[in-house]
Amino acid sequence: MDQTQRFDLVVVSNRLPVDRVVAADGIATWRRSPGGLVTALEPVMATSHGAWVGWPGVTSERLDPFELKGGLAGGSFHVVPVELNESEIVEYYEGFANATLWPLYHDLIAVPEYHRQWWECYVKVNERFARAVAEVAAPGATVWVQDYQLQLVPQQLRAIRPDIKIGFFSHIPFPGADLFAQLPWREQVLQGLLGADLVGFQRVEDCRNFGRAVRHLLGYRTQRDTVQVPTENGTRMVRYSDYPISIDAKAFETLGRDPKVRARAEQIRQDLGSPKTILLGIDRLDYTKGIRHRLKAFGELLGEGRIDVGDAALIQVAVPSRERVRTYQRLRDDIELTVARINGEFSTVGDTAVHYLHRSFPREEMAAFYVAADIMLVTALRDGMNLVAKEYVATNTDNNGALILSEFAGASDELKTALLVNPHDIDGIKSAILYAMQMSKTERTRRMRAMRRHVHEDNVLAWAHRYLEDLDRCDGAAA
Ligand code: G6P
Repeated sequence: MDQTQRFDLVVVSNRLPVDRVVAADGIATWRRSPGGLVTALEPVMATSHGAWVGWPGVTSERLDPFELKGGLAGGSFHVVPVELNESEIVEYYEGFANATLWPLYHDLIAVPEYHRQWWECYVKVNERFARAVAEVAAPGATVWVQDYQLQLVPQQLRAIRPDIKIGFFSHIPFPGADLFAQLPWREQVLQGLLGADLVGFQRVEDCRNFGRAVRHLLGYRTQRDTVQVPTENGTRMVRYSDYPISIDAKAFETLGRDPKVRARAEQIRQDLGSPKTILLGIDRLDYTKGIRHRLKAFGELLGEGRIDVGDAALIQVAVPSRERVRTYQRLRDDIELTVARINGEFSTVGDTAVHYLHRSFPREEMAAFYVAADIMLVTALRDGMNLVAKEYVATNTDNNGALILSEFAGASDELKTALLVNPHDIDGIKSAILYAMQMSKTERTRRMRAMRRHVHEDNVLAWAHRYLEDLDRCDGAAA
């Protein structure tokens, strides 16, 4: 491997698009990691042959950079693993990223923990990522920093490599200024982000929140979509704007038409006893996803006899996530207890009410679930975007499914013909389920067609191009 290789486009995210997996016999392999980010960026990286810097998902293993070939979109890109040791995983990843920032940025659905030691580790690890990027970025390269785990990297990278054009994109919401103000290191985080030339968010609302935080907490001026950052020799302009992320819509459409996937979907329906309605939820097992809320709604409908266990089956895929973080462990217990209660009360020997699957599935199997599902339930309490909603829509080539979508997911800004719900309103979810079950074919088709058109027009390549073109135009000067 040529250690001096330099790249014009470098993406950096906490997690690499592949996980290092070591089997019981000690043999190590690479496996695609879960999460929307990978799905979103893989096609972009494959077409532009760049480098991707990130953590390989294992502790303390020094791994050499390598070429990753043959992703979904074909092509290849360079992978640069960044090493994290066990205490860094505890303090930086599980701690500051996922027990401080994650709950704070998702409107305190869980209580954020503030620990100075975690913060110090976050600073240190961000520095390591910044250095790793600086080493592989060609002169004048474009670097795209992803997500809340790496908010300090833009500023740290600019300090080492002022020649680089730096973009930052937040996949998760940016909280209201009053919530963000809780963070003891709020100024440092804002300064970290303002090291970028362009700060991207999912929704217009996130941009507003960010602008307000910058004005109130740093006292900087903003004008339209630009922050005026005072520097030693004047002012540097940092742009911020919304770039709602999408998916590789064509790939999902192709899967939706694939005879093997369709046969598998039919098999799933038969295995469930051919119920009239299959409801589906697919989420990382996360408290932001509102899984309990939808289970409660479904359970109540069964209890009230408004749906029958033989007629309607709910499949809930819960992809394991952040399993050593306490709030996630409690959530899992809660959800599994709820599923067991519903099944104990309503399942019969032949029919199960909730089919709960706590694992991840290959993309083809996910597509078969999407094809089989008559109703998709996305009831997130807060979600940056929610790509599952868009994947369901893209896969639904018969235009025959119904999407129940939370108003608090970024996707609701775009998928306006979904059945929009407030996930806190259990009666509202119940009504939406009943409405979807009785919806005419004409209405289902009309709603789904409009959503599919949107997802196809605004696919992930268009998203990445729009962002990278805007970044290219940034020059730090006033607009
Ligand atoms: C969300 C975040 C991503 C993250 C993914 C999976 O989508 O926005 O940054 O990679 O969840 O979470 P994990 O903690 O397993 O990386």
